[in-house]
Amino acid sequence: MSVTTVLMLMGGRSSEHDVSLVSARGVTAALDPSAFEVISVLIGTDGTWTRDGAEVMLATSGGRPVLVSLDDGAAAAVDVVFPVLHGPFGEDGAVQGLCEMVGVPYVGAGVAASAIAMDKATFKTIAIQRGLPVADAVIVTHASWNDAAPTTRAAVAAMGFPVFVKPARLGSSVGISRVTAPADLDEAVSLALAYDDKILIEKGITGREVEVGVLDRGTLVVSPPGEISYAAEWYDYATKYEAGRAELHIPADLPADITARLQEAARTAYEAVGCHGMARVDCFVTATGDVVVSEINTIPGFTPTSAYPSLMAAAGVDYPQLVARLVEAALERAAHERSLRR
Ligand SMILES: Nc1ncnc2c1ncn2[C@@H]1O[C@H](COP(=O)(O)OP(=O)(O)O)[C@@H](O)[C@H]1O
Ligand SMILES: [Mg+2]
Repeated sequence: MSVTTVLMLMGGRSSEHDVSLVSARGVTAALDPSAFEVISVLIGTDGTWTRDGAEVMLATSGGRPVLVSLDDGAAAAVDVVFPVLHGPFGEDGAVQGLCEMVGVPYVGAGVAASAIAMDKATFKTIAIQRGLPVADAVIVTHASWNDAAPTTRAAVAAMGFPVFVKPARLGSSVGISRVTAPADLDEAVSLALAYDDKILIEKGITGREVEVGVLDRGTLVVSPPGEISYAAEWYDYATKYEAGRAELHIPADLPADITARLQEAARTAYEAVGCHGMARVDCFVTATGDVVVSEINTIPGFTPTSAYPSLMAAAGVDYPQLVARLVEAALERAAHERSLRR
């Protein structure tokens, strides 16, 4: 069997740089060395690409994708890119566009699906169009807040507190505030607008937080839901990343009909966005048993204790099988796209 050269992209320019490094270590360790040769490239927070400390770039040479050393021009052939990057410039279609330009297969969602999933406002529009239940929200931009803050404040008051104010295109709970009173809204809006020009002011949902994994194995495998439980008021950055502050229970202790509705919602969200390979769909389950779809992640956390690999393990796909399948799915998609007439 020939060895597949996997270009592992890790780090990245987003505030999720450090999480990505842990995810990439996990993925690299799980790729069977007899089948995959991994080339690791670190993308710095300033955007510099390095391999073992030396600057590199992704390019084409003779119509083939290569990783080129900026020191000596040496070119290494690349079969597939595994972007283990979270957030802006990694999960939002930007690096996917680079891969398309260079003509290299890559793991996960394509350009448009990545961009849609990254943008919580755009995803909400698409989810609503597919009939998925989502939380009400007011979308605010820098310009609209400057022009018409009173109108926005009135719309938020009509929706009712608490609300969650969040950047449209970020992750890891960065820039998010839970606001319980009108007087605190402006500060939360300013914070979120410091991270993105577009933000959501979303009606607070009281409920349990559950996540569902989806994997393309030819047909879609939808995992059992897992429940995130924690002592904090909401799943903020510290609760997410400080050891021991949150627990993941798989499968979530839920009635069969709610489990089925969660899985159906996850499948619908994956298909509506047009994902490829994988996604993690995050939902709330309210006290009355309603399912509310919160967000979809096209490159979910991949640390060995992350939710996505644990959910897929519960669906019968262990971590090494999971990463190998994702690479295989990327190669399958590329072969299919080469066969299209365009
Ligand atoms: N509308 C909401 N109602 C209740 N909790 C929310 C709401 N929006 C966000 N949260 C809380 O904030 C966390 C992070 O929000 P989320 O939209 O998932 O952003 P991120 O992409 O940063 O994970 C959620 O896991 C949840 O605890
Ligand atoms: Mg989230």
